[in-house]
Amino acid sequence: MTIRHHLGQYEVTVSEWGQVHSLLPDSATLVTDSNVLEVLPRAIAERNPIVIPAGENSKTWKTAGRLLDTLIERGHTRKNPLVAVGGGMIGDLVGFAAGTLLRGVPFFQVPTSLLAMVDSSVGGKVGVDLPTGKNLAGLFLAPQSVSIPLDALKTLPEAEWRSGMAEVIKYGLIGQADLADELESAPLLNPEDPRTKNIIVRCITHKARVVEEDEFETSGLRATLNFGHTVGHAIEVWGNYSDYRHGEAIAIGMVVEARIGEQIGFTPRGIGDRVAALLASHGLPNEMPKEARFEDLLPLMRRDKKVVGTDLAFSLLNGWGACKLNTNVEASAVALAWHR
Ligand SMILES: NC(=O)c1ccc[n+]([C@@H]2O[C@H](COP(=O)([O-])OP(=O)(O)OC[C@H]3O[C@@H](n4cnc5c(N)ncnc54)[C@H](O)[C@@H]3O)[C@@H](O)[C@H]2O)c1
Ligand SMILES: [Zn+2]
Repeated sequence: MTIRHHLGQYEVTVSEWGQVHSLLPDSATLVTDSNVLEVLPRAIAERNPIVIPAGENSKTWKTAGRLLDTLIERGHTRKNPLVAVGGGMIGDLVGFAAGTLLRGVPFFQVPTSLLAMVDSSVGGKVGVDLPTGKNLAGLFLAPQSVSIPLDALKTLPEAEWRSGMAEVIKYGLIGQADLADELESAPLLNPEDPRTKNIIVRCITHKARVVEEDEFETSGLRATLNFGHTVGHAIEVWGNYSDYRHGEAIAIGMVVEARIGEQIGFTPRGIGDRVAALLASHGLPNEMPKEARFEDLLPLMRRDKKVVGTDLAFSLLNGWGACKLNTNVEASAVALAWHR
């Protein structure tokens, strides 16, 4: 698949570890996390990757600074590419480092989690979290290529598979009713399912089309990929980036945002229940945690990057498989849909 951005054009290939290894330039420095290191094929592990502690708490300004220092100490030059080998945390962090080190070095993505394969590795957004909010520092940076080792999914823990499925389900809900229907009638529960590759390709194709049409989020189209994320990101921050995986937080976010849509008369009635059931059938949470008070999460939602005025901004469903950005949702409507 070729992705065409204004930022640059690159190939996304779905293959296996063996081919991925042969595609990486010898002059590259690999960066991975402490969990992925354990499952790397020997040929890749032998390339002496820089290892970042696993977990969202590493996707910070501070870790990025330390990574830049390590690279400089290792003698990294502008000619040496950086390769992110890991999930979305590594992809976002290493991409951020690649975009800022020496004002930019070539960047390659090797996504190893389902979530990174279908979402974070494609689209050119990289960045880190700030204590004040999620993904608040970052840049648009096209990779040289995205090489997906499909067999990496064999070692992915089940909970991480489920987390990635939240984004897969999101694609269905925002623009591919046939995919949402298919997952509703037969959940995709593990990578051995023969549909896995095809469904991953459908997600990437969807994201590529959206990104090509609205790369810098000006028309509202790209914002549809953010369905579930206004609430989801707030849950992640509220849970100190450790209580909920990204996919788990956005699963809850998708249910709450479907109910917000119903509350303001934008989303047809009944869709919230259907979304909740679809997520539950994939082992995902679908209810706001009891302790998550609306008043505590409201300031976090106000910091969302989609906000333009004084109201809240949400990408909401205007049908099963259809989504649109709303930038004028009043907090009172959100409060009513909060714990249901
Ligand atoms: N840039 C974007 O457009 C974009 C889009 C969506 C999400 N994201 C970001 O992606 C991040 C979430 O990504 P994630 O869910 O991949 O998280 P992650 O990178 O933390 O990976 C999840 C866990 O799975 C482990 N893992 C990954 N691949 C493995 C494998 N093959 N075998 C065994 N273990 C493996 C990791 O070590 C980690 O413990 C969040 O920071 C989110 O904000 C970015
Ligand atoms: Zn996401």
